[in-house]
Amino acid sequence: MHYTTLGRTGLRVSVAGLGTGGFSRMGLKTGLSEDEAARLVVEAIELGVNFIDTAPPYGTEGVVGRALKSVPREAVVVATKSTVRRNGEWWTPARVVESLDNSLRLLGTDYVDVFMLHAVDPDMYDYARDALAPALLAEKQKGKIRHIGLTENPIVDHTNATLKRAVHDGVWDVVMVGFHMMHQGARANVFPVTRRNRIGTLIMFAVRSIFADPPRIAREMRGLAQKGLVAQWLADTDDPLGFLVHEAGALSVIDAAYRYARYEPGVDVVLFGTGNAAHLRANIAALLQPPLPEPDRAKLAALFGHLTGIGLDGHEGRTR
Ligand SMILES: NC(=O)c1ccc[n+]([C@@H]2O[C@H](COP(=O)([O-])OP(=O)(O)OC[C@H]3O[C@@H](n4cnc5c(N)ncnc54)[C@H](OP(=O)(O)O)[C@@H]3O)[C@@H](O)[C@H]2O)c1
Repeated sequence: MHYTTLGRTGLRVSVAGLGTGGFSRMGLKTGLSEDEAARLVVEAIELGVNFIDTAPPYGTEGVVGRALKSVPREAVVVATKSTVRRNGEWWTPARVVESLDNSLRLLGTDYVDVFMLHAVDPDMYDYARDALAPALLAEKQKGKIRHIGLTENPIVDHTNATLKRAVHDGVWDVVMVGFHMMHQGARANVFPVTRRNRIGTLIMFAVRSIFADPPRIAREMRGLAQKGLVAQWLADTDDPLGFLVHEAGALSVIDAAYRYARYEPGVDVVLFGTGNAAHLRANIAALLQPPLPEPDRAKLAALFGHLTGIGLDGHEGRTR
């Protein structure tokens, strides 16, 4: 495994981070038991992954808690989150602290390394910073939280509007941002400031569903070409990203997607979500490969650098 420093937190973290949410939720959504899912978490840890991301809505905090029983607590960096608003209801500071306490109980630990406000839409940002961050800092004083952060919501926020503000505020030690081969906005919107301010970055959506679904990529290209947003040749083939797969390049489009995210300057941890042991091993192996050849990276920037909002589906938007 390769390790890096998560911004000013100083935490040493694996460049491959295990995401226990997304579509897979460690396999809980596709029939794995909590014990089987926990074994997958332990396998990731045995392969050197020490960053684990969870959240109450994923239903995986108990799974992570089971896995934590078999490793020394300090060997793993655990991140979890709290909702800010759900179904129109704003969560009070007291409710967020209650959520933290419940997470600690499910995780079986007395502290969370990184506690983040979850999927903060642009119109939630002022409330998150002004009403909730002070409550989190008070919990930090008590030792229940080591560092605080927030995650954007790429499903509705295609232009990093929340993070464009958050990275200047000095409050957040860590941010989670959507970034992938066809959604590259964070390069200009987020990473220059996180690097300057030494804010740790966690990447979501590196693969999500689009790059794991070849017919979906081809469909997406046809739609974009019709709108004049990508070159026609990308719509005239069933394998538009096939140019990335060659002897000196990527092993597959998924391999390319994880490697692409990992080597973007400013990226600390690339999260991957899976409920499948073979995918887990393949994704860790991909993240340890060298960068994609420079001509391939340059081509991805030239072809897709101007796009926003591609493949940022939520759970309901899943096409397979
Ligand atoms: N706003 C937020 O805070 C937020 C939002 C989204 C995600 N997240 C976090 O980010 C993590 C990563 O989520 P993501 O959805 O962006 O994950 P991802 O790694 O980009 O995509 C995961 C999807 O790709 C599939 N996949 C993964 N590896 C594969 C492989 N080698 N071959 C074929 N298919 C593969 C998975 O299915 P299989 O199960 O079949 O492998 C799953 O459907 C989440 O777990 C969560 O912790 C946070």
